[in-house]
Amino acid sequence: MNLPQKVVIKEVGPRDGLQNEKGLINTNEKVQWIDNLSQSGLQYIEVSSFVHPKWIPQLADAEKVLKSIKRHNDVTYAALIPNVKGLMRALEVGIDEASVFMSASESHNKNNINKTIDETFPVLKEVVEEAKKANLTVRGYVSTVIGCPYEGSISPEQVLRVVDALVDMGVSEVSLGDTIGVGVPTQVEQLLTLLLKHYPPSLFAMHFHDTRGTALANIVKSLEMGITTFDSSTGGLGGCPYAKGASGNVATEDVLYLLSEMGIETGVDMNSIVEAAFFIEQKLGRNLMSKQMEIARNTRGDYTS
Ligand code: HMG
Ligand code: MG
Repeated sequence: MNLPQKVVIKEVGPRDGLQNEKGLINTNEKVQWIDNLSQSGLQYIEVSSFVHPKWIPQLADAEKVLKSIKRHNDVTYAALIPNVKGLMRALEVGIDEASVFMSASESHNKNNINKTIDETFPVLKEVVEEAKKANLTVRGYVSTVIGCPYEGSISPEQVLRVVDALVDMGVSEVSLGDTIGVGVPTQVEQLLTLLLKHYPPSLFAMHFHDTRGTALANIVKSLEMGITTFDSSTGGLGGCPYAKGASGNVATEDVLYLLSEMGIETGVDMNSIVEAAFFIEQKLGRNLMSKQMEIARNTRGDYTS
């Protein structure tokens, strides 16, 4: 297999993970969790989102979280930003990177951010311009890159159209989201085959949800095609409240196992991530289901939840 030596893991649990939880986690516990994650060797943590608190009440404390975490110089702290209003809120408390987001599918875009795709472009363009003036880098998410909960299959051409627009705006990375976790490696190959005709693999991160257990297979396919950045979530938390059936992101600890056994470096300590997964599991009061957590429960026997 043609594999990279190193991969960057972008932890999205505190944002993508907690946005989908029914209950609210208190701010101090979130902060403690993020502080634990900051000590694990992760280079990148998406800590919250500055969307409308009515739409995502779970993350309504974004300002408090950003003000309270202990920041490490070698960690990039990012947040999800829907519009300039969100960016201004984030700049007040300080972030390193702004993540703008939209969908390849018209109906998910409309349900998620209340705009058509064409109406979204100028909104995000303004965010990118203002973020750059504030010396931030900007990442652009494209959601529903393989399937949409409302429309079914999404073609690679639909994704390319949105990627082109984000690149024209000036984003430095595009994260391709299989939001509802329907994709399989042949579809990932089709998608990347088209996108990599136009852009280098270094432009892209892959953001797989593991709804149907295909995320690791999709990661392997992406690695083979030259992708070296992956989003994941400690404990496999995650989902989009505006995409029914979107279950957790692929678990960071399961990705770490896969990569380390394939000889690929991440710089992230497995034990610290598993501990952080048990920490948040306890605060959520429900069992999280990653493979590495199961193994830790069975072999170490010192975890209760
Ligand atoms: P809207 O209602 O159309 O907003 O929502 P609006 O511009 O018409 O403004 C309405 C009111 O909201 C105004 O207040 C604004 O000031 C206020 P009023 O004048 O009525 O008092 N407002 C805000 N307040 C606080 N922060 C803001 C903000 N913006 C407007 N940022 C909006 C549009 C985009 C804001 C809304 O639809 C929203 O917040 N959506 C967020 C949905 C979301 O977070 N979904 C989950 C994340 S996406 C995802 O999970 C997928 C991903 O993980 C990748 C993958 O898995 O594929 C990224
Ligand atoms: Mg997601």
